[in-house]
Amino acid sequence: MLNIEQVAACGVVPVVVLEDAEQAVPTAKALLAGGINAMEITFRTAAAKDSIAKVAKEVPEMIVGAGTVINVDQLHDALDAGAKFIVSPGTSEEVIAEAVKLNVPVAPGVVTPSEIMIGLKYGLKVFKFFPAESYGGLKTIKALCGPFPQIRFIPTGGINQNNAEEYFKNPKIVAVGGSWMVTKDMVVAGDFAGITEKSAAATALFKQIRG
Ligand code: 3PG
Repeated sequence: MLNIEQVAACGVVPVVVLEDAEQAVPTAKALLAGGINAMEITFRTAAAKDSIAKVAKEVPEMIVGAGTVINVDQLHDALDAGAKFIVSPGTSEEVIAEAVKLNVPVAPGVVTPSEIMIGLKYGLKVFKFFPAESYGGLKTIKALCGPFPQIRFIPTGGINQNNAEEYFKNPKIVAVGGSWMVTKDMVVAGDFAGITEKSAAATALFKQIRG
């Protein structure tokens, strides 16, 4: 069983929004070609479940997870489709409890100590910090690490190639999440070469800093 740290080992977790499940496999392959081997397909569109199923079946090297999971029904749908991990924008105790019960890696979104304390109750060690830049970025993460030295973060929201470096330099950061390497526009335009290029730049930056 993977944990979230292993899922995010390449340093970048792409937040992928797909309107058409037919785009899922080429998007996954484009990310893989850029060195990203885990992707979060968000439950923001009707195509999410089919997209996860296609990637799980057709691109086995890709660790496909479900993002924007805000309730237990979505969690079950995601797992039925083959999702290997769950990401949520916020802290739903039901979602966390169900994922932990089913032994599925889960990264809930947090910005406050109280939200972190809910995750700690379930033994979680890695949290999504969302929306990262709006909630004070690294400065807030450092402050949260005072009372909670045992946890690490995947900051997401407002991060891109230009500001990822400061996050990568901090050991409390497992990886950063974001959509800059796989924007909706790139997917709709079929710009898979562009997705690979931006993914490769992001993973190269992570490797350069973390070795
Ligand atoms: C999101 O939920 O849209 C993600 O956090 C991505 O944020 P970004 O588009 O700012 O990278």
